[in-house]
Amino acid sequence: MCGIMAYVGEQSAFPILMEGLKKLEYRGYDSAGVAVMSDELRLLKKSGKVNNLEKYAPDDITIGTLGIGHTRWATHGAASDLNAHPHQSMSGRYTLVHNGIIENAAPLKEMMLKHGIVFKSETDTEVLVQLIEWYQMRFQLETQMAVQRALEYIEGSFAIVLFDLHTPDQLFVIRRGSPLVIGIGDDEYIISSDPMPIAPHTDQLIYLEEDILGVFKKGTAPSFVDAQEEMVEQTIEYLSHTYEDVMKEGYDSYMLKEINEQPARIAHMLDRHMGGRANDELLDRLPTIISDIDRIIILGCGSSRHSGLVAEYLMETYARISVEVEYASEFRYKNAMIGPKDLIIGISQSGETADTIAALKIASSSGATTIGIVNGVNSTIARMVDHVLYLHMGQEIGVASTKAFSAQLTALTLISMRIAEIRKTICQEDTDRMLLDLKNVSEHVKTALECADIIESISLDLLESRSIIFLGRGMLYPIALEGALKLKELSYIHAEGFAAGEMKHGPIALLEERMPVIALVNDDCSLEKLMSNVQEMKARKAMIIVIKSSNVTLSAGVADYIVDMPDCPAFLSPIIQSIPLQLLSYYVAKHKGCDVDQPRHLAKSVTVE
Ligand code: AGP
Ligand code: GLU
Repeated sequence: MCGIMAYVGEQSAFPILMEGLKKLEYRGYDSAGVAVMSDELRLLKKSGKVNNLEKYAPDDITIGTLGIGHTRWATHGAASDLNAHPHQSMSGRYTLVHNGIIENAAPLKEMMLKHGIVFKSETDTEVLVQLIEWYQMRFQLETQMAVQRALEYIEGSFAIVLFDLHTPDQLFVIRRGSPLVIGIGDDEYIISSDPMPIAPHTDQLIYLEEDILGVFKKGTAPSFVDAQEEMVEQTIEYLSHTYEDVMKEGYDSYMLKEINEQPARIAHMLDRHMGGRANDELLDRLPTIISDIDRIIILGCGSSRHSGLVAEYLMETYARISVEVEYASEFRYKNAMIGPKDLIIGISQSGETADTIAALKIASSSGATTIGIVNGVNSTIARMVDHVLYLHMGQEIGVASTKAFSAQLTALTLISMRIAEIRKTICQEDTDRMLLDLKNVSEHVKTALECADIIESISLDLLESRSIIFLGRGMLYPIALEGALKLKELSYIHAEGFAAGEMKHGPIALLEERMPVIALVNDDCSLEKLMSNVQEMKARKAMIIVIKSSNVTLSAGVADYIVDMPDCPAFLSPIIQSIPLQLLSYYVAKHKGCDVDQPRHLAKSVTVE
């Protein structure tokens, strides 16, 4: 979601902005724009892809050595050229790019309209830039002061880079809620939503604190002031992480590549965490962390929440500790009763999800211990929690979470087993055996991927479906939810996941002849019950697709399609069974002609609420 890229230095700004914006494309966006200062300010903004900008750029745009760029994920107003960023104040003095949402944009706009301010776009961002100018003009303030005063009235989240025509060699930068990183190079500054586009230029970074205004001018040390206009320091950190240039490596999409790299990546992650190579802040301290804990609350959104639901089953079953799983977006507004005896686990692939960040802030301020399970190295969540466990899966580019999801399940299984071991809720012999089974899970994932051909042939039978149902019980119930989420986000076919036992309490009314029902089956204690539920669907002429462990035997004729998964202990089946569901959504989307890497309306990093 939204990418900011800005540059001030000695080099030509435009190619640096373009290269950076392309690196941010994976986050998801609908329009792009740049403003580059040379003899005058060149403003270029278009709906559609970043490449579009290159087509329209005048040749002399490359002269400028200062510029700001943006990829927009529309919140206020359609994805049009006019609504794309950068936005300008009425006089043209200020030009601004913004990530986030101004929640009180409507009353502020109304107030300024009454004072004769003319707006060109439908965006909340234009309200912000107009407000800055309004304060500057009304009170004759310096720009720095005008920004701080305007922001006092802003509700919502923002990361902004502001250009002032009166000081054409400098950039103003401030954030609240949304991420922003500043790279410090030799006589140059590179500002971005993400360290990745900065990495080719410098390894010195500042993760700007909230509400601190930074001013960047080439050849001059940066200055930082807080809302009271006191000078403050910001810590310079060294980038410890190398960003590989992620390629499709012969696959037709990042998603298919990411699905196929799961065995190797999971093995690598387990080797780091179980082989003692991870410098493991979390696992090493787990005995102390859980010593005085009564309850675990897991927070996340989308797929990350689904992995949390699996962890609830694992932790309650094996570690005998009470677990609650919450939508981060709901938790933050429910006035939750939490305290020092709660352990809060925030799960996030990106580590930048605005709702999860906000929920974790509430948890921290209530005195609870926080853990982050994240893939994004040095992301906001990784930096804000008390303890972090990295997934080490490499960057995930496809919007649909695949390798990050299986890695979350693997990491949560490992944590659950460790907690069980510490709490001695299962005997050491069983723990050792389960940890050994977990260590070998990547082999099962590899075997599970062999179902690609049969899954592709099934997918062809689903292309015309209006709605698809996923069923599971126990720890496969969250995998049914995940299968449905994956299918709808990629193929735009309506899909729902249900706990199989719930069907007869209402959803069974949805069934029509040949409606696909995908049942996830392992050989745990609920096998018989689940198969009875499937029979009920079959009796109503649904098309039954069973994905099952190979050691489960089904009675003849119960299913239209059967997909066998490797025979493995039931506690690993969520990891294994998520593989065919990833492939299914991939093939359905591909054969429907959908963009599997960047599905419509979706963003990889959901940095607005
Ligand atoms: C997964 O396929 C989705 N793209 C989405 O539900 C995602 O899991 C959710 O937005 C949470 O993202 P996070 O893990 O980066 O916090
Ligand atoms: N709210 C702003 C808009 O709709 C910025 C969205 C973003 O973060 O890209 O233009």
